[in-house]
Amino acid sequence: MSRRLLVTSALPYANGPLHIGHLLEYIQCDIWVRYQRLAGNQCQWVWADDAHGTPIMLRAEAEGTTPEALIERVKTEHEQDIAGFLLSPDNFHTTHSEENREISADIYERLKAAGHIVTRTISQLYDEERDMFLPDRYVKGGCPSCGTPDQYGDNCEHCSATYDATDLIDPISQVSGSKPVSRDSEQYFFALGNFTDMLKEWTRSGTLQPEIANKLSEWLDDGLQDWDISRNAPYFGFEIPGTTDKYFYVWLDAPIGYMASHRHLAERTGEDWAASWQPGSDVELYHFIGKDIANFHGLFWPAMLHGAGFRTPNGVFCHGFLTVDNKKMSKSRGTSITVNTWLQHIDAEPLRYYFAAKLNSSVVDLNLNLEDFVTRVNSDLVGKVVNIASRCAGFITKRFDGRLAKTWPEAQRADYEHLIGARHVIMDYYEKREFGKAMREIMVLAEHANTWINDAEPWVLAKDPERADEVQQICTVGLNYFRVIVTYLAPVLPEIAAKTEAFLNTRLSLDDLETPLTDHAIERYKPMMTRIEPAQIEKVLEATRESQPAPAAPAAASAADVEPLAEEITIEDFQKIDLRVAKIVAAEPVEGADKLVELTLDIGSETRTVFAGIKAAYAPADLVGRQTVMVANLKPRKMRFGLSSGMVLAVGPGGSDLFILSPDDGARPGMRVK
Ligand code: MSP
Ligand code: ZN
Repeated sequence: MSRRLLVTSALPYANGPLHIGHLLEYIQCDIWVRYQRLAGNQCQWVWADDAHGTPIMLRAEAEGTTPEALIERVKTEHEQDIAGFLLSPDNFHTTHSEENREISADIYERLKAAGHIVTRTISQLYDEERDMFLPDRYVKGGCPSCGTPDQYGDNCEHCSATYDATDLIDPISQVSGSKPVSRDSEQYFFALGNFTDMLKEWTRSGTLQPEIANKLSEWLDDGLQDWDISRNAPYFGFEIPGTTDKYFYVWLDAPIGYMASHRHLAERTGEDWAASWQPGSDVELYHFIGKDIANFHGLFWPAMLHGAGFRTPNGVFCHGFLTVDNKKMSKSRGTSITVNTWLQHIDAEPLRYYFAAKLNSSVVDLNLNLEDFVTRVNSDLVGKVVNIASRCAGFITKRFDGRLAKTWPEAQRADYEHLIGARHVIMDYYEKREFGKAMREIMVLAEHANTWINDAEPWVLAKDPERADEVQQICTVGLNYFRVIVTYLAPVLPEIAAKTEAFLNTRLSLDDLETPLTDHAIERYKPMMTRIEPAQIEKVLEATRESQPAPAAPAAASAADVEPLAEEITIEDFQKIDLRVAKIVAAEPVEGADKLVELTLDIGSETRTVFAGIKAAYAPADLVGRQTVMVANLKPRKMRFGLSSGMVLAVGPGGSDLFILSPDDGARPGMRVK
């Protein structure tokens, strides 16, 4: 009995291009889906653009267009990227669709009827110039906890305090630059707390990776808050039924977009889509997502489904983030590479293979090392895989009229059995999303095939007309090995698989591998993949750097822009501050805090733990071994994540432009800075 699977990948926002970070997820999902289909299962992948929310509304306005026109244009671009990277969704829809409007309203009504929707009046910041309520990301002000200026409306990058935007000191609207006011309005909440018991069980039932289940259990233990699912007009989204000026928050209708895309697909296939969403359905439902959206998929979404009387997912597959050369993607370094830029200079399959070779089922971040990428792809795909075909094909075409040998050599029977026996292990790795392990197994087989051909030396035998039969046999064996290896790689390399089908004049399928191809006509071999040159990488980086908007000329700082000077201090006051050179001996990301890095600092006499809001500027691993300057006698502060004993000095406008390192030579840890 073949399994029936319904798979989704996260819906990209429809306000910008897809980049190679997105691709990590979409390639992972595509490989898994293609593997399922290869294994003979019925597997549908439904996907869409996430088209709602304030950023899309404001972006459209800034471009002088409507949100509808913007999301349509972006959808076309996304569809080109999807085709270019050989991704195989069964449907790519949009959340701004009639299907989604209806299903969202239906789920909302069901939740309401079951008593899971509550209303409450809350106070939020309002921009009177623009006549709109301000989402947290669109307001900045001083941190109510530590006073650091220029912090967003939800949490402080400096001390990582979380707070309400209405508590910011001197808030400024990022939309108009005006000073917002507090205004009350009634909002609709989803009573997530009603699902605590259900979620405690569901999150521990094997649906989530253990790391994710642990993280979510912190939320569950802290007690789940009601979730605000409404936004005031103006907003680009769906009006909440029964209201005229309230809209569903984008994250309410976004995951419902999975169902809507499925329903839209069913219009074409005639499938009873709704049955798949009923409790007890035997269709397996899986979501591929990034670790940044685990709470939406591990708490809110299953609660919504359950509360509305639908089935819950069988698995949420969470992946880590992509770094390039061990750093966060950045435009100025040329590493925030869009799909389009990549495809201008390099094909899709090399990157698909490289990601496959590095992917596993865990949530850890994955690094794209560009030098390693070139070496790996050239050595594995060109040197080991495609090479098998190019070494054998010519003889068959030129000397044997394109026909494989009549029979399979008995001496190669056991070797072939071994090769096709490997498929159980390889398919099992695919199933478990251990793609790196699958690629290693396959490369061992490819190395074996190459060694075998090297030892058999058909090019030597070919000089002796008496031994023509042997040459035909050797090349027949070689091309059959190639057929098996490409079949195993087909989920990763769909284009090479298609070219191989044309070349070998056969359909690649696991079952057919039982019988090797003999006495069979093949086509002339055409090169399937060429080496990647480092210059291609250079071109991608250059094009990415160039696409960066020129940095605005630093405005001559007018007196009004400059923060007023603090109260005068004496030299004695200054000497109270004990600044020390500190060596960073360890740097770790902080679970649950996007911006913080936990630093372990050696100041000669002792080591200190300091939490610093510098993650946007530095990948933790890059900091180890470097030096910085710290305030060593600052009173330790208890933070949500632990005790912070001191503070590191930083300069720069903030975010990714922040500098904390001192030159490494000359200073020794513990040296006092004066
Ligand atoms: N629109 C939401 C998802 C809604 S799903 C109902 C969203 N969009 S996104 O465009 O920001 O991200 C889409 C997916 O790409 C997410 O799963 C996200 O984790 C993933 N990635 C975005 N940047 C990434 C990297 N740099 N690395 C790996 N995955 C990345 O979130
Ligand atoms: Zn603060």
